[in-house]
Parts: sequence; C-alpha cells; structure tokens
Amino acid sequence: KEISRFQQSLLQWYEKNQRKLPWRYTCMEGQPNPYHVWVSETMLQQTKVATVIEYYKNWLQTFPDITSLAESSLERVNEIWAGLGYYRRAKLLYEGAQTVVSKFGGKIPDDVNLLQSIPGIGPYTAAAIASIAFNRPYAVCDGNVFRVLSRLFCIDLDISSTEGQNLFKNLAQFLLSKERAADYNQAMMELGATVCTPKNFDCEKCPVQSWCSSFQSSTQRQFPVKANR
Ligand code: ADE
Repeated sequence: KEISRFQQSLLQWYEKNQRKLPWRYTCMEGQPNPYHVWVSETMLQQTKVATVIEYYKNWLQTFPDITSLAESSLERVNEIWAGLGYYRRAKLLYEGAQTVVSKFGGKIPDDVNLLQSIPGIGPYTAAAIASIAFNRPYAVCDGNVFRVLSRLFCIDLDISSTEGQNLFKNLAQFLLSKERAADYNQAMMELGATVCTPKNFDCEKCPVQSWCSSFQSSTQRQFPVKANR
C-alpha cells in the first residue's frame, strides 16, 4: 500500500517532468523498439546524456536496424562510434547484432537470461532492455539508482561491495512497479539524473521527499558511500 503510493508519486512526476530524449520516442507498434533501447543504454553506460544524443541519432541513421548493423564492417562501426570512447562496447554491440541475427532470427529476445547470452549484454543492459522495451518486471540499477536508494534509506554500505550490490538490487526489485516497469525504471534514473544529483540535489522538486530518510535527517551528502580506491 505504502509502496504503491511511492510508485504513483514517482510515476506521476516522471510523466510530467521527463526530458524529451530521442530514445523515448522509438515506438514500434506502440511498443518501444528494443534495438533502440539497446543502442541508447549501451551508449549511456559510459557517456553523458548530452553527448549521447547526437551519436545516437547518427548511429540510427547509419544502422537503422539490427540487420544493417550486423552486415556492416567493424571499421564502419568504429567510425560511427568514434569519439564516444570505450570502443570495446562498439565491437560488442556489433557482435551482439550478429548473434541476434544468427541465433534469434533478428529479433531481440525479451528474456533476461537469453539477453545475457548475447555479447555485450550484461545484467544492467539485460534488465534495461527487458523492462524498458518489453515492460518485464526487472529493476534496473545504475549509478543514479544507487544514489537515490542510498539516500531514501540512508544505506551506508559501500555501493561497490558485493554486500552493497546485493542489497541495492533486492531493494530496487522490491520497490519496482511490476505493472509499469518500463516507466518506473526510467523514472528512477531520471530522478537521479535531474533532481537527486550528486551535489546540487533539489529536494524541493522531489516527488518522494516524504519517504526520504536522508532528507529528514539532512544527510543527503553522506550518501552514497563509496570505498576509497
Ligand atoms: N541513464 C541510463 N539510462 C537512462 C535512461 N533510460 N533514462 C535516463 N538516464 C539514463
């Protein structure tokens, strides 16, 4: 009951306040295009949203679908990726597209285990594709989500420790709206990216302020906890 109020508050905020990003308008028969989700989430893993936008548009102009990517050359792929860094990701995306064509008839699967059998798709990307493209009930945990959760519950476990990772994953899965996983996951990431930011967080704009322990104790700055490495 309380969880459902939390979810509603977050989802309503997201409907009103989400940024208009190109990969949020990739509907294919009313459903997001899984290939577009895959490309955008792969690019977003290491690069800021502002930088990704132009690369993303250019990528889809060059490789409009999985087949065109799979049939391209690695040289061409690297050329279009050039400037984004982490070139291993481009190579894996390319090999992943070839796997989808050869093993799955060109259709991206909606099952997280099958997704993780594809080169370049780890737990994060698998959950992102399954939830955002297919509305499957898997919580997505990126840096934004770790920050939001650690502040909501004043969790002082190191976010890179195994113990911390497990706790955050379980908590994220527990809070997830199973009916609206696509919107819920994007809402959590959007909240972390635009309101619950590392330094200039704006709690007055936060839709879940009344559930936030660190807001109540003014300890936002203490979270998340990262071990000195
Ligand atoms: N960062 C990574 N994926 C994102 C998404 N779908 N929305 C907002 N920020 C993100």
